[in-house]
Amino acid sequence: MGDYEQFVGAIKRKTGIDLALYKEAQMKRRLTSLYEKKGYPSFSTFFDALSSNKEMMNEFLDRMTINVSEFYRNSKRWDVLEKKILPRLLKENKRLKVWSAACSTGEEPYTLAMVLSAHMPLSSVSIQATDLDLNVIQKAKLGLYPERSLAEVPEEIKKKHFQKEGAFFKTSEEVKRTVSFKRQNLLSDRFESGYDLIVCRNVMIYFTEEAKDELYRKFNAALRSGGVLFVGSTEQIFNPERYGFEVEDTFFYKKV
Ligand SMILES: C[S@@+](CC[C@H](N)C(=O)[O-])C[C@H]1O[C@@H](n2cnc3c(N)ncnc32)[C@H](O)[C@@H]1O
Repeated sequence: MGDYEQFVGAIKRKTGIDLALYKEAQMKRRLTSLYEKKGYPSFSTFFDALSSNKEMMNEFLDRMTINVSEFYRNSKRWDVLEKKILPRLLKENKRLKVWSAACSTGEEPYTLAMVLSAHMPLSSVSIQATDLDLNVIQKAKLGLYPERSLAEVPEEIKKKHFQKEGAFFKTSEEVKRTVSFKRQNLLSDRFESGYDLIVCRNVMIYFTEEAKDELYRKFNAALRSGGVLFVGSTEQIFNPERYGFEVEDTFFYKKV
């Protein structure tokens, strides 16, 4: 077995994270550049270091998870959500069960709260948000962002839902209260069911075809019929019918 394969097995035993479900070339490149930077000659020596050093383990997690995010990422899609998808969902169901899966540092679930607030008071918004990486969840709970994360936020939303703190912007307490964060591995943990809307964007691109296939099925089972899966702007699903979806709009898939 090669150095990388052994590392993949050892990481799975230690953390439950299965790197074999992520595209190999990309993952290997990211991790090789990390261990070389740290001065290790191989994956096996790097693993020994990870096992005994919590900080190094955190750096590894940081490198493997790719946490970039921003508010209103691909803002036209959020317009479609607000003006087309949500009105239909709300016609069918007054209280929506909503999940931001792979939420990173919180920009996505907080955007969701702001978009939902066009249709209802924030006090009745409730969003579940999950990510594999506890470090990003901690940052998400803090809700403090550099200005560049807000580049796509409409001006009136910025005024309404953010406070400036030095060089940073803080999401308002009313917005923060709408989101509950939890650690979850999309590739191994069980999902709840009965969701009206699942937002899962810019993480599936890192997964192998087999892992994606399985995940689309799990998302489909987690939605109520008529519920919607909202994916990232490079993550179009080929043959959505295969998984029990139909296209409602570009990057929005409705459970048939
Ligand atoms: C590029 S960010 C996407 C953030 C946000 N959804 C967006 O579109 O801006 C990818 C996130 O996926 C998370 N992630 C990676 N693998 C995961 C897994 N197996 N289960 C849950 N989250 C995962 C990472 O920790 C990271 O925060």
